[in-house]
Amino acid sequence: MKLSASHLTLAYREGDAVSYAVHDISIQLPERGFVGIMGPSGSGKSSLLYLLSGLKPPTEGEVSLDYVSLTRLSEQERAKIRRERFGFVFQQPFLLNHLTARENVMVSALRHKGLDAEVNALFTGLSIDHLASRFPTHLSGGERQRIAVARAMAHQPEIIFADEPTAALDHTNGRAVIELLASYRERGLLLLVTHDPTMLEEADFIYKMEDGRIRE
Ligand SMILES: Nc1ncnc2c1ncn2[C@@H]1O[C@H](COP(=O)(O)OP(=O)(O)O)[C@@H](O)[C@H]1O
Ligand SMILES: [Mg+2]
Repeated sequence: MKLSASHLTLAYREGDAVSYAVHDISIQLPERGFVGIMGPSGSGKSSLLYLLSGLKPPTEGEVSLDYVSLTRLSEQERAKIRRERFGFVFQQPFLLNHLTARENVMVSALRHKGLDAEVNALFTGLSIDHLASRFPTHLSGGERQRIAVARAMAHQPEIIFADEPTAALDHTNGRAVIELLASYRERGLLLLVTHDPTMLEEADFIYKMEDGRIRE
């Protein structure tokens, strides 16, 4: 087991009232595989990903990575873990428009001393060679998101956090992006958040969220 959470809680204070985005969640995630987190809008899915990846400090509870509590690390140490051991894919691809698709991925790989050959192999492996020399403005939304997936994989992270990566795409393109992401399941953990159950058909395990809690 790599990533785990115990009694994880994220509360917001609104005047005298307290509302919970994440409420007392304890989970243990496998080292490899495809784990889905499904729930309606506002159920706390993004908040849970922010906590698990150390982007937000919990109000209560803790997240452990290899038995080290993220809460006890400095912000720099958490940032280093996110940079080197985690990969992220969001609803929007956030590519740099003045760089080609390949250069966008190289920016991430270079930071980790990735080699040209590795980035080429990644593009080939994901069957997106034909997109490599194009600029983001000349790619469709689905193609841009495929590049964002390649970028998240370029440094061979242990965990990929994907927050609604298909929400801006039609069903066919959404499924294609999921296929690419799911191909990572042998190498590491894919933790994918979505409100769309059809995107989780191949998941090994699905957590269902409701009002900040995992529903059993
Ligand atoms: N900064 C904030 N202040 C107050 N409430 C927030 C804040 N951010 C999120 N929330 C609330 O937390 C709940 C969960 O939000 P979120 O994690 O974004 O859900 P999801 O990703 O499932 O749509 C929602 O009710 C939302 O309104
Ligand atoms: Mg969300």
